[in-house]
Amino acid sequence: MCGIVGVIGAKPVTNILINGLEKLEYRGYDSAGIFVNSTHTPAQMVKTVGKIAALKAKLTPAVDGTVGIGHTRWATNGAPSDDNAHPQFSADDRFYLVHNGVITNAQALKDEYLRDVHFSSQTDTEVVVQLVAKFVQDGATPTAAFYRTLGLLQGSYAFVLADADDPETLYVAKNKSPLLVGVGDGAYYVASDAMAMLNETKQFIALQDGDVVILHRDRITITDLDGDFVERPTFTAKLDAADISKGTYPYYMLKEIDEQPAVMRRVVDAYLPADGSVAVNQSLLQALDQADKLYIVAAGTSYHAGLVGARIFEEMAGLPAEAYLASEFGYHMPLLAKHPLFLLLSQSGETADSREVLVNVKKQGYPVLTMTNTAGSTLSREADYTMLLHAGPEIAVASTKAYTAQIAVQAVLAKALGVFRKREVAKDFDLRHDLSIAAAGMQTLVDEKEQVKNLVAQYIPNQQHAFYIGRGEDYPLSLEAALKLKEVSYVHTEGFAAGELKHGTIALIEEDTPVMAFITDDVTAAHTRSNLQETEARGAHTMTIVSEHLAQPTDNIVLPDINPLLSALVGIIPAQLIAYYAALGKKLDVDKPRNLAKSVTVE
Ligand code: F6R
Repeated sequence: MCGIVGVIGAKPVTNILINGLEKLEYRGYDSAGIFVNSTHTPAQMVKTVGKIAALKAKLTPAVDGTVGIGHTRWATNGAPSDDNAHPQFSADDRFYLVHNGVITNAQALKDEYLRDVHFSSQTDTEVVVQLVAKFVQDGATPTAAFYRTLGLLQGSYAFVLADADDPETLYVAKNKSPLLVGVGDGAYYVASDAMAMLNETKQFIALQDGDVVILHRDRITITDLDGDFVERPTFTAKLDAADISKGTYPYYMLKEIDEQPAVMRRVVDAYLPADGSVAVNQSLLQALDQADKLYIVAAGTSYHAGLVGARIFEEMAGLPAEAYLASEFGYHMPLLAKHPLFLLLSQSGETADSREVLVNVKKQGYPVLTMTNTAGSTLSREADYTMLLHAGPEIAVASTKAYTAQIAVQAVLAKALGVFRKREVAKDFDLRHDLSIAAAGMQTLVDEKEQVKNLVAQYIPNQQHAFYIGRGEDYPLSLEAALKLKEVSYVHTEGFAAGELKHGTIALIEEDTPVMAFITDDVTAAHTRSNLQETEARGAHTMTIVSEHLAQPTDNIVLPDINPLLSALVGIIPAQLIAYYAALGKKLDVDKPRNLAKSVTVE
């Protein structure tokens, strides 16, 4: 979490830093700050609790320079406050540091080296910058002090360090947290994500763990932690600055909900050519064919997509598959099958819980596939195989289009494996056609968003609790629908297996509690309707979201019929819209719900 930026060049840097931080705000927005300097103006730092808008309000035209660093924070060590905002600085006011990650031995280092130093924050980051200053005071050059400090650290970091006495140098290092160096014309840029610097350059260097970079405006040195030079290739970012603009939408979340039909078409174009073949790496299919179980490991929304995908793999490819929470799996691994294959699902490709699993299972020699929306991300670089989601940049913190893309791309792989295994059911699975039907169904649903808006006005205002229920495919869909509503509208919402409610949780149903049921499964439709009636009998305000062929005149939202294995692709659209309008109705910041960050790079 946290987003960091740095610039060293000849042009004024403040606007570049602020624009970059705005692009990185999805990584955290508890507090923000910048430090700028040049050879002819004084070094200045401005930081504040709150979002980038609060930081901008504190800036004056005089705050500028030709070198600078910036930070947007998601608090880990130390509550959000002005003091805990980054940059953190040394007691002698010489060194300024921005950091994404967590230093796990900060307290031990503080006790060992910095007993007499005055600290002004509760952050682990301050320990790092104070250490650099201490080693310089003891006689080291800043470069030597930086390397020595890095050698002492445990944990994760992406750092940019500035020296107030030297406006011609930035010190950069990476371990576990993502970091890129942008290569400009007479300038270098540093950012957690290429999006932040796209207005300045499209040429980037992806740093690897253990890389240390010394930047001057006209040259770059990259070494490992021992100071030995390393070569890192430059790549051209394929993103366009327009891809990450909100256009005419009030919020990214609504834009991204609306983009889902187009995302389905992109998945079809990428993987399902018109000749009926499936464009998937053959060696991946061979590895999957030899596996006796697929372990799908992910967090949050991606985990919910994994629950849907597991069923598709079993049905289409005959491969036992199960979805697991990354944060649990990393440390409490179940007894594994003889030939496991791991599928890590991650929009960002940077989630620390998932990376922990990846590192762990790679150590044991198991094959790993990452499905991610972010080409070149840590999880995709470190896996044996990678498949891209093609959802396009997802900026709103609440994931929408990545979820549907994850289901679609898992279906692609399940189909490919089923065909590889010569299974009739997979040959008959016309996924190209089914995803086109899903895209058309999604389009109908997003076009009818006014209907959802009206339902939200009737059901959600003033409610503190709500439920989504469903059976079969509709159960994981209920989990995702509930996560969406609670994370953006702060209405406490649970997703439940419809038949399980009566075994305890029904005690929570009160007069007007919204209970929303997904009904897309022929076999259990009548049961789910009964379960819904049981809640209605106890005062619930019930809503039905039902597949067309099962719909009755009193149902509230009708979903276009699609292949039942893919029903979540259309079922989730009204739920995403319910969440969006519920948050909008409460005048909340839809794209940046409180306490969250888009890319969770801490465990
Ligand atoms: C919820 C949401 C999160 C993410 C989770 C995993 O809307 O976005 O639950 O799904 O943090 O993130 P990735 O997919 O980037 O690994």
